[in-house]
Amino acid sequence: MLSRLPARVVALRAKVFEKVNGDNAITFPNEQVGPDRFQELYSHPAANGRSRGAGLSDLFWYWLSPGPEVHQEHLEAGPRYDDVARATRTFLAGPSDALAEAATRCTAKVLDEVLTGRVTEVRLRDLMMPVWAEYFYELVFGEPCPRYARDLIVGHANDVVTSLKCTGLRHPARRARLTRYLTVRLADVRHPLPGTLSETEQVHYLQGTYFNTAVVQMSEAMAHLLLALAQHPEVAERIGDDRYFAHVLDETFRLYPLFGIAHRITTDDIVLDEHTTFPAGSVLCFSYPDYHATGYADPHVFDPGRWESTAARHEHHIPFGVAANRPCPAWRLSPLAMRASAREVLRRVSLHSTATHTRSLPSRGPCLLVRDGPVPRLRLAFLRVRDRWEDVWRSVVQLVLGTAMVLHAHHLRPAGRYFDTHDTQGCPVRH
Ligand code: HEM
Repeated sequence: MLSRLPARVVALRAKVFEKVNGDNAITFPNEQVGPDRFQELYSHPAANGRSRGAGLSDLFWYWLSPGPEVHQEHLEAGPRYDDVARATRTFLAGPSDALAEAATRCTAKVLDEVLTGRVTEVRLRDLMMPVWAEYFYELVFGEPCPRYARDLIVGHANDVVTSLKCTGLRHPARRARLTRYLTVRLADVRHPLPGTLSETEQVHYLQGTYFNTAVVQMSEAMAHLLLALAQHPEVAERIGDDRYFAHVLDETFRLYPLFGIAHRITTDDIVLDEHTTFPAGSVLCFSYPDYHATGYADPHVFDPGRWESTAARHEHHIPFGVAANRPCPAWRLSPLAMRASAREVLRRVSLHSTATHTRSLPSRGPCLLVRDGPVPRLRLAFLRVRDRWEDVWRSVVQLVLGTAMVLHAHHLRPAGRYFDTHDTQGCPVRH
């Protein structure tokens, strides 16, 4: 009974979200648009609205503040989006060797601090946060990250992901400390910032893109990769092989996609065929886990070997979104940096974990890092019991805090209020 509680609470939370947002959102793949036409719908030119017209946007804007109105992910198509997307591409470009070398160096620096004994217990997401804070600070400012800045970045990114997963409430004051720091440092950024944004918006662009999304996504992705390696030692042994590593990453992204759902608001009618039409203003939700689970034998099994005989591009596999509709700009950088970082971890320690591995990983991935000598079996057994128990009470906390935040976002209406007074390009409108 207790072991089934977390899943039930998650289902209940989804219902609360649906009810409060009141969008009549449709989730795909479904009977109407199955996995075979999923990408066709996702790639449709009229499936390109991002924020305006969906109650769901209030919730995302609430979680991503400050500055959700200039976050690339939430900008509507148009000149401002093009300008911001161009700037992001410039920041994330660079020779592969240099991008990988920086990941090795930042990982090594953090491990030097953390690995003090033979056995170190960590939560993998927490272990990785300072690594990517250092990494993206270097990418933005072109110099090593001071400890003070690292703490501000981790504090901010942690606050965002903790509230997104409903394991804690958001703390605007904590986030504002990073905003103040970035405001002072704006002139030191090494690449041109989007010229269509005001200085305050440029600060929010930096904060939202590099010190929230980038740090959170890379830390989550690494937590999944390292936890999978901890639970499949035979796979961990082979990650020195580049080809095999690519399969491991494909399989990790397939089974644990970082996005549960990505949504689009249709800006025009979509007619897929005579029976399938979506009017303008529909909220379409694309479920990554459901799509990634179709078309594979034993889809719920972690099996990098399945990629030996097929290529990800031929399968239901879109870890970085769809090319035709705003894919992730870090699709090239992320795998390179993750490979370098994972190898640096495994060069120093072996990984062991008995924690439950789920896509949303609210436990942050408890894991033992063992430098040498025997694996502490008793500690692993304790970790298992604690993990299952934490799952139960955490799911209740998530329900309560999630409901509170959904109601608060609904009350504040950050996206709705913005579009009451601005058009899709951020220009003030008079009523
Ligand atoms: C392994 C790591 C990552 C994964 C799996 C990932 C995944 C994704 C996915 C699936 C989307 C598309 C969502 C949609 O269709 O709405 C996306 C969008 C985005 N990602 Fe990533 N991401 C990762 C890392 C990063 C990093 C490091 C950055 C750093 C800047 C980043 C920045 C963005 C931005 C700005 C968008 C919005 C793109 C747009 O709307 O134009 N991501 N990401």
